[in-house]
Amino acid sequence: MKTRWYKDAVVYQIYPRSFCDGNGDGIGDIRGIISKLDYIKSLGVDAVWLSPVYKSPNDDNGYDISDYRDIMDEFGALDDWKEMIEGMHSRGIRLIMDLVVNHTSDEHAWFVESRKKDSNYRDYYIWRKGRGKNGKKPPNNWTSNFVGPAWEYDEQSGEWYLHLFSKKQPDLNWENPKVRQEVADICNYWFDLGVDGFRCDVITYISKRDGLPNGKLKFPLIGNENYIVGPNYHKYIRELNERSFSRYDSMTVGESIGITPDNAFEAIDESVGELDTVFSFDHMGVDFKMNVIPAKFNLAKYKKILDKWQQLPKTCQPTIFLENHDQPRCLPRFSGDYGDKRELAGMALAASMLFMRATPYIYQGQEIGMTNCDFRQEDYQDIMSVNALKMIKRVCPILLPYARKVLLKRARDHARTPMQWTAGENAGFSTVKPWMKLNPNYKEINVEDSESREDSLLNFYRKALAYRKGKDVIICGDFKLVYPKSKDIFAYVREYHGKRLFVIVNFKNKKVDFKLPKDLTFNNCSLALNNYADASKTLKDMKLREYEALVYEL
Ligand code: GLC
Ligand code: CA
Repeated sequence: MKTRWYKDAVVYQIYPRSFCDGNGDGIGDIRGIISKLDYIKSLGVDAVWLSPVYKSPNDDNGYDISDYRDIMDEFGALDDWKEMIEGMHSRGIRLIMDLVVNHTSDEHAWFVESRKKDSNYRDYYIWRKGRGKNGKKPPNNWTSNFVGPAWEYDEQSGEWYLHLFSKKQPDLNWENPKVRQEVADICNYWFDLGVDGFRCDVITYISKRDGLPNGKLKFPLIGNENYIVGPNYHKYIRELNERSFSRYDSMTVGESIGITPDNAFEAIDESVGELDTVFSFDHMGVDFKMNVIPAKFNLAKYKKILDKWQQLPKTCQPTIFLENHDQPRCLPRFSGDYGDKRELAGMALAASMLFMRATPYIYQGQEIGMTNCDFRQEDYQDIMSVNALKMIKRVCPILLPYARKVLLKRARDHARTPMQWTAGENAGFSTVKPWMKLNPNYKEINVEDSESREDSLLNFYRKALAYRKGKDVIICGDFKLVYPKSKDIFAYVREYHGKRLFVIVNFKNKKVDFKLPKDLTFNNCSLALNNYADASKTLKDMKLREYEALVYEL
């Protein structure tokens, strides 16, 4: 039943609110996506991961779902969605939906019912008595990933409910078998409507440690170790796989904080029947300490992290991504001060990721080299940024200037500025002012301009994707880093049944010497991909130019 098509697939992520507005209200929507299906097809991607489009009061832009079986009014109707998936399938593009089931919206019918103490739905969520006199202190010291305590007091019942994200996102109680069956039913509902898989939101948080024990409080006081890959995590995912995922030719990718190369085998190996793949975030932590404090990017460290995933058995499929809707743009993070070489730098990043043994994900706008935005304080829309600023203003206003500086590097908002389609009004995203600040650089950075130049970053992505399609050496070849300790060069060899691919990328905005490794022998060599027109046709000692990227077949 399972063809494991995802092993040779490239996925394009759409954040619907910011992709394209089809009806002129300033908010991206499904009709907007439909109007861009030919563009998506032209990239050469095989699947789309669509961030949530379900009914939602939008406390966290759709990651707070009030009805899992219907579409958010702002995005359109179920019929629009059906037209969209048909349009994708007729173009050979599969659709991965976002599955957000660690929590629901507090406006979901289950939670509305659950607030009543004697309701059959009480046990769908995690309710506890408070500590201290009168129970007015939260049941434990867990903190929300969106700042502040992870518990909210409910006057009506005199108890607290757990919310690992905003207080409008109560956590579901996965210990309740009824909840687990509801989740399987939701998945099957969408599979029966034709979806090809799910990206499973914070899925490693579903099983909380027995007794919900206090965690160690660590800076920056967000998150906690007592619910990450908890005691029943594997059991619940296996059950869901059996009831749903395994019944379709599906692919799943978990947002899996806590799954590392050391425990990945038990989570994603083909033999275990859980999720097919996971996103891990360690490589996203190289330029941030504790996921927050900006740090200097260290290429050697970054390669070491990725290499560990590459060395897993071939029955464990890694993923690779440089951006998503929760991350700042990759160019300012990993390419340093790229000056006027933005597109060359983007090509270097693309070449470094696209030939690994992995399912690559490209986030909307990455293919044209969109950048971070120079936000003012009032521009931030994301609940995480807004809460962080509020909290600092309240507890330590002296830190505000520093917090603003951090947000300019770290805010999730950077990924959520509207997609830049043209140099025209509202960047071609909408006919009216968009819901979220446009990056003013849309006049230079946009799809229309990228289409007009043969040597654009966009066209480099197209060439690279066309090249990688169907190549065994890329899908399942061995991976070996060359000069793993180099802080300038990211180079690797892929090898499969005597076929080799040599990828060399200069990560820096400076010229760098490259010497052929002593143990490398070959008879023939041909240049398969390059970002400088006059690149060397043969593999030899050379001076790599700024952000030069080269792929050779040996
Ligand atoms: C995931 C999503 C993020 C969301 C959070 C809560 O991390 O990627 O956007 O805010 O889960 O659902
Ligand atoms: Ca709209």
